[in-house]
Amino acid sequence: MCRVIAIANQKGGVGKTTTSINLGVGLARLGQRVLLVDADPQGHLTLGLGFPKNLKVTLKNMMENIIMGIEFEPREAILSHKEGVDVIPSNKLLTGMDMSLITVDDRECVLKEYLELLQDDYDYIIIDCMPSLGMLTINAMTAANSVLIPVQPQFYAADGLTELLKVYKGTKQRFNPEIEIEGILFTMDASRYNNSRRNKKAVHTAYGNDVNIFADAIPRSEAIAEIASEGMSIFEYDRQSKGAESYEKLAREVLSHAKTK
Ligand SMILES: Nc1ncnc2c1ncn2[C@@H]1O[C@H](COP(=O)(O)OP(=O)(O)O)[C@@H](O)[C@H]1O
Ligand SMILES: [Mg+2]
Repeated sequence: MCRVIAIANQKGGVGKTTTSINLGVGLARLGQRVLLVDADPQGHLTLGLGFPKNLKVTLKNMMENIIMGIEFEPREAILSHKEGVDVIPSNKLLTGMDMSLITVDDRECVLKEYLELLQDDYDYIIIDCMPSLGMLTINAMTAANSVLIPVQPQFYAADGLTELLKVYKGTKQRFNPEIEIEGILFTMDASRYNNSRRNKKAVHTAYGNDVNIFADAIPRSEAIAEIASEGMSIFEYDRQSKGAESYEKLAREVLSHAKTK
């Protein structure tokens, strides 16, 4: 059965895209069939995997086909990456989607309806969300079995999570009762600094009782920062790095989580 994971946090720059790419490739390396969906008009996942920004067929077209109820080939937008993952790209043409969804019937369910056409082909579909809590993110949460929340252990980290969890709970109540939280993942962690440790502890204190927090954080690493411009994952860029090790651990934990379902 296919599991759909939305990688969400309305804060930008917390590691959503980096986590989508490296969790996705990490799962593919463990033998899983993986589809990555770029649901951010900034198109960072698309660019970060080395695809061009002016692609003609993107997630936007696929969602429009669903909205208009026309028959279409759902795999038309899919690209293959050489590291063994498929990708549905996006670019700035997706920008208007958040607004135009507002007037659509069943507007929360458009992405879900589209991904249902593809789910037989994959073990995991990972949705890289945009940094907002608008309609596209709600669409991602409605389509998802779980939400994974990357958090940078900064001073205000715990604050922003309240808003996100409110939207999560609202979506669960109204559109997707089965959804759960995969976990909070600390990214760009520098645990050798007291500051980072203190901020992680604050998140544990505020949410640790209700929400899974992954035991292993993703370290802040030069290698991880460099892959965005290289069109590859950390596994291809530097297999021996701490970053690769930490994303492999995450992939294994996500996989074992699915097995208990
Ligand atoms: N573990 C890390 N160590 C160092 N830099 C990182 C790490 N994870 C992400 N980055 C960098 O931080 C920036 C924001 O990451 P990104 O994944 O694009 O966040 P988001 O998708 O939440 O906006 C990018 O420049 C990325 O290369
Ligand atoms: Mg991003």
